[in-house]
Amino acid sequence: MSNNLLKGKRGIVFGALNDKSIAWKVAEKAVEQGAIITLSNTPMAVRMGETNALSEKLNTKVIAADATSVEDLEQVFTQSMEILGGKIDFVLHSIGMSPNVRKGKPYDGLDYGFYDKTLDVSALSFHKMMQVAKKLDAIAEGGSILALTHIAAQRTFTGYNDMADAKALLESIGRSFGYVYGRDKKVRVNTISQSPTLTTAGQGIGGMDAFFDFAEKMSPLGNASAESCADYCIVMFSDLTRMVTMQNLFHDGGFSNMGLTQAVVEDYIQKK
Ligand SMILES: NC(=O)c1ccc[n+]([C@@H]2O[C@H](COP(=O)([O-])OP(=O)(O)OC[C@H]3O[C@@H](n4cnc5c(N)ncnc54)[C@H](O)[C@@H]3O)[C@@H](O)[C@H]2O)c1
Repeated sequence: MSNNLLKGKRGIVFGALNDKSIAWKVAEKAVEQGAIITLSNTPMAVRMGETNALSEKLNTKVIAADATSVEDLEQVFTQSMEILGGKIDFVLHSIGMSPNVRKGKPYDGLDYGFYDKTLDVSALSFHKMMQVAKKLDAIAEGGSILALTHIAAQRTFTGYNDMADAKALLESIGRSFGYVYGRDKKVRVNTISQSPTLTTAGQGIGGMDAFFDFAEKMSPLGNASAESCADYCIVMFSDLTRMVTMQNLFHDGGFSNMGLTQAVVEDYIQKK
């Protein structure tokens, strides 16, 4: 159902790999709500993933870019303004990857080269994106920039490993850049802290199935799906939230404010 919440807006969606990706759902809903967009992902993901299929479906262009490369990001913003015909109104950073998680390195046995990569891909890329966009004056006044994060930034979850550190940094970058971008250009910057979601990146996290099940029982509304996360992103891109900035917004069915639910108690008693 479309309410044309993004009618006339131009956006860039980073990170749609396949139809499980949160960014995939955001791209679909943004177009459904009247926006015109470009998509971006790594050259490898564009070759091996399904980003091109999404771009055909939505009649959009894909600009391949490694989000850790300032030059690549300059291309994404410059080309997107050309393709879409003006300044950009919204950007989604939906990017995360930890080589330590992928290679099964424990938190007390991290490879520091991998650790640098985790932070660069999953957090610094957000800063690079905004620094590039600001230098190019690529974002329209009132524009909205979002990155996706996880509550492991605030609390420790087994298996989340160095991604927890990356998410803490990502959220801090959101606040710090949110101040500067709001002050200078009236652009808002927020992070959305999403429930565990069964995507390619999500399923890479150790013990994800157990955590997904636990969070489902620990959240009064249950886990938030990728689709409902996309709905929240659309609202955050719309003019309905034009005074919201520098926030870390929990989109998790209530998980972040729960201590213990009856569902978890009953599960525990049954298993004893
Ligand atoms: N799945 C979850 O449980 C969950 C929960 C909270 C937050 N998040 C966050 O949501 C975001 C999207 O992840 P997802 O769950 O949709 O998984 P996903 O695997 O579909 O998306 C991750 C994307 O990051 C891209 N990427 C990796 N390295 C890159 C690079 N160098 N440059 C550009 N793009 C790169 C991948 O190609 C992929 O498209 C991530 O930031 C993730 O940490 C996910």
